[in-house]
Amino acid sequence: MHAIGVDIGGTKIAAGVIDEDGTILAKTRRVTEPDDAGSIDQAIAEIYGEFSGSYEIGSIGLAAAGFVSSDRSGVLFAPNLAWRNYPLDERVRALIGGDVRIVVENDANAAGWAEFRFGVGREVDDMLMLTVGTGLGGALVADGKLVRGAWGVAAEVGHMRVVPGGHYCGCGHEGCWEQYASGSALVRDAQAALITQPERAESLLSRVGGKVGDLTGPDVTEAAQAGDELAIELLANLGRWIGEGAASVAALIDPGLIVIGGGVGAAGDLLLSPVRHAFSEQLSGRGYRPEARIELAAMGNDAGIVGAADLSRV
Ligand code: BGC
Ligand code: NA
Ligand code: ZN
Repeated sequence: MHAIGVDIGGTKIAAGVIDEDGTILAKTRRVTEPDDAGSIDQAIAEIYGEFSGSYEIGSIGLAAAGFVSSDRSGVLFAPNLAWRNYPLDERVRALIGGDVRIVVENDANAAGWAEFRFGVGREVDDMLMLTVGTGLGGALVADGKLVRGAWGVAAEVGHMRVVPGGHYCGCGHEGCWEQYASGSALVRDAQAALITQPERAESLLSRVGGKVGDLTGPDVTEAAQAGDELAIELLANLGRWIGEGAASVAALIDPGLIVIGGGVGAAGDLLLSPVRHAFSEQLSGRGYRPEARIELAAMGNDAGIVGAADLSRV
């Protein structure tokens, strides 16, 4: 039976019809308002309407960037979106009717599950996935199983404190890992560098016509790939934060593989080498223990929809 996978991001929704082997049969997208939960429900209902006309759909998996309840019916809390105790399955059901199965999953769990089942993690049993985007998401597979914790909110690694008194986080605390190891952190630091180090920022500034606020993550990646020193340094700094934090996570879960996903993966080795280097440097017992491999995600932007669909099946 086919399943629909929906990846709900801050400003856009990606969705697809997925078969049992993880193959994408059809895809679509919608733009949504980040502060308007209702517009997200509406977009999901539209997507279902579009797909259910041409495919027989057994279930819908909704990948959401937040703390998902243990019964997978809704979102308890979302640091970077408007959801607070939001009954997502109920709201979507009210719009689409019928009795198709609806399952809500954490977005990083969905992406990590897709990589584990069909992507770069196919050969391992113990894996950590980090999704580096607006926030920093985590998925943990232990002994071949997705770890959910007692209340469904395990692997919220983005909110581990790495800097006491550090940057404010959408979760209400300070110094969370995602304030240093995310696409948002990269953009924040890059924009700051344009102001504090203009003499090194010619290439970056010219990309945005001097408008600091317009600078995006892909701008940094492209500049780095073209050899720009400041951009390379910014990516290396992001990589260091990712790698050092991952070493701490390894102290807890001892993964065989750490998968790095999210848009910044486009930077390739410019990101991955610093991640690997910092991980090794910070790993306790280094030289006396086997080290996890660190690889880029293989499924790119499709991981969320494929994983959400797969996890929605009975
Ligand atoms: C949220 C996670 C989410 C991650 C990536 C974090 O801020 O707490 O639930 O998986 O961002 O979207
Ligand atoms: Na997660
Ligand atoms: Zn936080």
